[in-house]
Amino acid sequence: LSDDEIPSPLRALVRMARDWFANLEQAPLAVVLGSGLGGLADAIIDPIAVGYHQIPGLARSTASGHRGEFLLGRLENMPIIAMAGRLHAYEGHSIEALTRPMAIMAAMRPRAVVVSCAAGGLNPRYETGDLVIIDEHLSLLHGKIGLGGVPLGEPHSLHRSGRPTCDESLAVLAEQTAWKADFRLHRGSYLAVTGPNYETRAECRMMRSWGFDLIGMSTVPEVVLASSAGLPTLAIGIVTNMAVPDAAQTASHEDVLAVSSAAGDRLEQIVRAIARD
Ligand code: 6GU
Repeated sequence: LSDDEIPSPLRALVRMARDWFANLEQAPLAVVLGSGLGGLADAIIDPIAVGYHQIPGLARSTASGHRGEFLLGRLENMPIIAMAGRLHAYEGHSIEALTRPMAIMAAMRPRAVVVSCAAGGLNPRYETGDLVIIDEHLSLLHGKIGLGGVPLGEPHSLHRSGRPTCDESLAVLAEQTAWKADFRLHRGSYLAVTGPNYETRAECRMMRSWGFDLIGMSTVPEVVLASSAGLPTLAIGIVTNMAVPDAAQTASHEDVLAVSSAAGDRLEQIVRAIARD
């Protein structure tokens, strides 16, 4: 992208990132760290942190367990840009506003994009702590994706309904990692809802009967933006609790954060394998 193709509020960050990545000669890996998954942020070597609020046009992250900053550094000696924390619709952000940080990363033309999230398990075969490759999704979040004016390449790329958003080679690499390290990794479908409440028993019954495996409040808008931009994209959900009508107790945000941070090292192994590849 030439500078005048990038909307002016984003130019400064894109320029800074380009300067920084320029001496590394490799496209970065872009990663979104979901609720409680900030542990991977600590594995990033020599990070430069840029808070979303420092960038004109980006909203501040208010959700607990979300730091709300970009981290630019290295992992497995590869350049990486990570979003430590994301913006959500339930914080009052439009889809356009909450996808803007991903638009910034997409403008850097990363080699691959990994989007992680905490999610409720609707599939009764899942167990708390399992990882799931999100290979299908449906979003009940409505709004325009926030390209912020960043061109996506193909003019019709936003209308490719039916095109899988999950990159198969990234998925296979994740599966090989899980197999070698002996941890559970499924493939499943994700339903995005606005929240902020977790589901009622009636909603759980309905959403399970719709055939979804996971439920959460994020991820789909970012994944649609990244894959529409032609970037190889992998979304991984951590089953932080079972969203089933007869669950022993209702989910709490604290439990969700505890389970996802415990699963963080397995996500890190996958991200490291992708960085090394
Ligand atoms: Cl059970 N529901 C939703 N909507 N989001 C979640 C979740 C449940 N668990 C983690 N995130």
